[in-house]
Amino acid sequence: MQIKIENDASKSAAMVMVVGVHLNEALPKLLQEVFGNAASALDLASIAAAARGDGFKGKINQVFTFPTLGALPCKRILLYGLGAEAELKTVGYSGYRKIGANIAKRLAAVRRATATESNADKGASKGKSLATAGTTVGARSKALSACFYLRPRKGKATKAPVGAAIASNEQIVEAIVEAFIMASFSFEKYKSMKEAGKKARLENIAELSDINLYFVNCDKAAFEKAVNKAIAVGRAVNMSRELIAEPPAFMTPSRLAVEARRIAKDHDLSVKIFDEVQIAKLAMGSFLGVARGAKEPPRFIVLKYTAPKAKKTVAIVGKGVTFDSGGLSLKTAGGMEHMKYDMSGAAIVLGVMDVIGKLKPKVSVLCVVPATENMPGSAALHPGDVLIAMNGKTIEVNNTDAEGRLILADALTYACQQGADELIDIATLTGAVVSALGRAAAGIMGNNQDLIDNLKAAGLPSGEKYWQLPMFDEYKEALKSDVADLKNAGSRGEAGSSCAAMFLQEFVEEKPWAHMDIAGVAWTERERDELNKGGTAFGIRTLCSYLLSH
Ligand code: BES
Ligand code: ZN
Ligand code: ZN
Repeated sequence: MQIKIENDASKSAAMVMVVGVHLNEALPKLLQEVFGNAASALDLASIAAAARGDGFKGKINQVFTFPTLGALPCKRILLYGLGAEAELKTVGYSGYRKIGANIAKRLAAVRRATATESNADKGASKGKSLATAGTTVGARSKALSACFYLRPRKGKATKAPVGAAIASNEQIVEAIVEAFIMASFSFEKYKSMKEAGKKARLENIAELSDINLYFVNCDKAAFEKAVNKAIAVGRAVNMSRELIAEPPAFMTPSRLAVEARRIAKDHDLSVKIFDEVQIAKLAMGSFLGVARGAKEPPRFIVLKYTAPKAKKTVAIVGKGVTFDSGGLSLKTAGGMEHMKYDMSGAAIVLGVMDVIGKLKPKVSVLCVVPATENMPGSAALHPGDVLIAMNGKTIEVNNTDAEGRLILADALTYACQQGADELIDIATLTGAVVSALGRAAAGIMGNNQDLIDNLKAAGLPSGEKYWQLPMFDEYKEALKSDVADLKNAGSRGEAGSSCAAMFLQEFVEEKPWAHMDIAGVAWTERERDELNKGGTAFGIRTLCSYLLSH
C-alpha cells in the first residue's frame, strides 16, 4: 500500500474520493472547502438534493456516492457520515479508529466490486487460465486509488493529553490512518487457487495499493509526521499479525529468527541469533529445558537499537513459543487449537523493533525473544525435573505447560546482564488472565508503579486496555518447592496470573519491570473495527507509544 499526503484534492484523479461529512453539515459549503474553486463545476444544489432525497444526513457510517461526470478529475465522490462532530470529539480516539476502519472496508468493497467486474469479462469469459485472470485483476485494481478528506479543525491544534477524549488534529489523523491500515489486513496465502477466479485472488487484492490522503488547510509537516507514525505502526501491526497467522510448522523458532534478521537488516539494527549450543554456553537451563521436548531447535533472538546519546536502555522481552502443546502436561484438543499464537509476544516485540528502527526514538531498545516449541517429545521435561536457570536459581517443574515463565526467566536474566535499565515483558502467559479479564483487557503487573501507569496511559489512544493485578506476598507461598528454590506452577485456580508474575519477578534483579499478560487479547474470534479474526498483535501500539514518548 502506497500512501501519499496531498493538499489539493481538486487535482486527484482517484476512482473514489471519500469525503467525511459531519451530521447535518451543509454539503455545498463542505464540497467547496474540499475542492476549492473546482467545486463550482459540480452541480452542488442537485447533489445536496439527491443526498437528502436518499436520506443521507452524515450519520455515523452512512454513505452517499455520486459520479463527478467529468466535472472533477476524480471519478466518484463517496460522502461518508462521521456523525455529530461534538459527539465524535467526546468519544475521542475509538470513534476515529472506527471511522478509519470502516472507510478501509468500504474501499476494499469498492475494489472487490471493480475486480469482480473485470474478472468476469477478462478472465472467465475468455477462458484464460486463472493465474492470468488474477494478474489482470491485480493490474487493473492498482488504478483504484482512494483519497479522503478530513475536515480540519479551525485554529491551532491543542495537544490533548494522552487518554483525554478530545484529540488534536494530528492525533485524529493518526488514529484514522492507523485503523485504516490495520483494517486493510488480510491473510489469504493458504487459500487454494481453485477458487482463484472468484474469491482468493480477490481477497488478496483487498488491500488497497495506492492511497492518497488529502488534508486541506492543514499544516503539512505536522500531518506528515503523524501520518508517518501511523503508517509505520499500522504496517508493523499487520506484519506481526502475519507472523502469528502462519501455521506453526512454518513459523518455527528458526523462521522467527529469519524474520528478526530481516527486520534488523531493514533498519540497521544489531542482531544476534543464538542456536542451542550457544544457548547452552549461556547456561540458560530454564529455557533449554522447555526446548528439550521438541525436534525443532530453539533460537534465542536479540535485536538492539542504539539511540545516540540515549539516557537509558529499555528491554522488551516477548514470549516466543511457536506452538504450545503443553508438553507432557498435555493440553486438551480444544486448549491446543490456536496455540500457534503463543508466540504473539515475540511477534509483537519484533513489530515494535520495526517501528523503532524506522522512527528512531531517543531511548535505546533491547529486544529479546526466547523462541521454542513446547512439545512432548521423548526428551521432554518430566514433571518433577529440576532446572538451573541462567541466574543460578533452581526450578522444580511441576507443570510443563507453565513453560512461558521458564523461557522468560532466562530472557529477563539475559536482558539484565546486557545492561538494560528497565524491563517490559509481553506474553500469552496464563489462562487465568482470560478468566479474570476476558477479552477486554490485558493483565499488567510489575514492581514499579510509574512504569505500569505509563504503559497503561500509552495504551489509551489505541484502545489497548490494561488492568493491574496484584502481586501480594502471599502468592509467593504457592511457588515454594520442597526440592528446589521455587517451582514453576502454583495451585490450579488460585490467582494464576499473579503467581506467574511472582515467578518472573525472581529474574529481574530488582530493576524496574512490567509484565503484560496478553493471553486473553492476543487472539480474537470476532471481527471488530480495525481488528479482524485471528492474531491481534495487541501491545505493539502501546509499546511504540511508550518508547516513542522518550
Ligand atoms: N500459553 C498458555 C497460556 C494461554 C492459555 C494462552 C490460553 C492463551 C490462551 C500457557 O503456557 C499455559 O499453558 N499456562 C498454564 C499455566 C498453568 C499450568 C500454571 C495455564 O494457564 O493453564
Ligand atoms: Zn503452556
Ligand atoms: Zn504457553
